[in-house]
Amino acid sequence: MQKKIAVINGDGIGPEVTQQAIKVLNSVAETFGHQFIYTDCLMGAVAIDATGNPLPEETIKVCLDSDAILFGAIGHPKYDNDPSAKVRPEQGLLALRKALQLFANIRPISTYPALQHLSPLKSKQLEGVDFIVFRELTGGIYFGKKELSEDKQTATDECTYHKHEIERVSHQAFQYAQKRRKKLTLVDKANVLETSRLWRAVVQEMAPSYPDVKVDFLFVDNAAMQIILNPQQFDVILTENMFGDIISDEASVITGSLGLLPSASVGNSTALFEPIHGSYPQAAGKDIANPLGSILSSAMLLEHFGLPKEAALVREAVEWTLTNGFVTKDIDPLNFYFTSTIGDLISDYVQGKIPGSVKQENIELRKSTII
Ligand code: IPM
Ligand code: MN
Repeated sequence: MQKKIAVINGDGIGPEVTQQAIKVLNSVAETFGHQFIYTDCLMGAVAIDATGNPLPEETIKVCLDSDAILFGAIGHPKYDNDPSAKVRPEQGLLALRKALQLFANIRPISTYPALQHLSPLKSKQLEGVDFIVFRELTGGIYFGKKELSEDKQTATDECTYHKHEIERVSHQAFQYAQKRRKKLTLVDKANVLETSRLWRAVVQEMAPSYPDVKVDFLFVDNAAMQIILNPQQFDVILTENMFGDIISDEASVITGSLGLLPSASVGNSTALFEPIHGSYPQAAGKDIANPLGSILSSAMLLEHFGLPKEAALVREAVEWTLTNGFVTKDIDPLNFYFTSTIGDLISDYVQGKIPGSVKQENIELRKSTII
């Protein structure tokens, strides 16, 4: 298979984690006889520095002309504390989502036994936690009219949803639920918001077309609590843009590490794959960031290309590193491996270069010479 991948490294740790994902994709290509052709493009603070525009036209063109997009992270501290900044890195990502109509953001939340001790939850609550947050990504308050009155005393952000915007993401969520444990939870605030009442009405209207899926509804404040109290109850959570942003971050911490979670944003044209963590500027260039979110995003990308065997091998390699203690500083601050070493190990595993019997005593000593 030959595929074109647009690579948006972005800011902060974006380039170094994306580099590891590319390493792994190249190992997959070599092992399975595929060819991936990469084109780098700019977005975020680096794009503002280079062109004045957080999303240059050229980037949109390259993305539209590619089979998938691999994205690192964007954001820079010099914009975070400056509410008056006219141009912001985040505008690049929002504009790209809109330009490519990436209306569904899929964030799987799965737990790894090797990381349970890092979770703020007790391990009993974590067993078997495995759900997906389906977040609407191109509508709602994020893209509504924004206004600041001339006297700067009043600000407005409008939240609008059209029925067709709710339907297209909901269809995808229902279909995912059908392939999983067949439960769909709509998270909204229908006791207060008109848009939420429309979401509920539309999902209720669609439910009979998916008779095998059990649908339930939760107010977002309750959902925020339930994700902590009893995360095992969830299979597919469907929600609007803003609620999805908040609860997916909340859900991610229960797994023990934000650095590990991948995501896919899909729509009618090229799909985009990115770790859910941010640009973590304090760690940029130090080779200490966790590359697993990016590597697992490349597994989602492989699945999107219709390569489930390849995706499964990447996930197996990731689990192998975790269970054998090959982890970055966020997971083990004392005995840690570098970002690039983890990328090398996973690439080697994918290429079958790791012998089946690594010496257990060396693993325990965390010797990088075990192989
Ligand atoms: C995310 C991020 C973005 C969002 C920011 C960077 C605009 O937090 O992808 O979740 O709010 O959607
Ligand atoms: Mn977010």
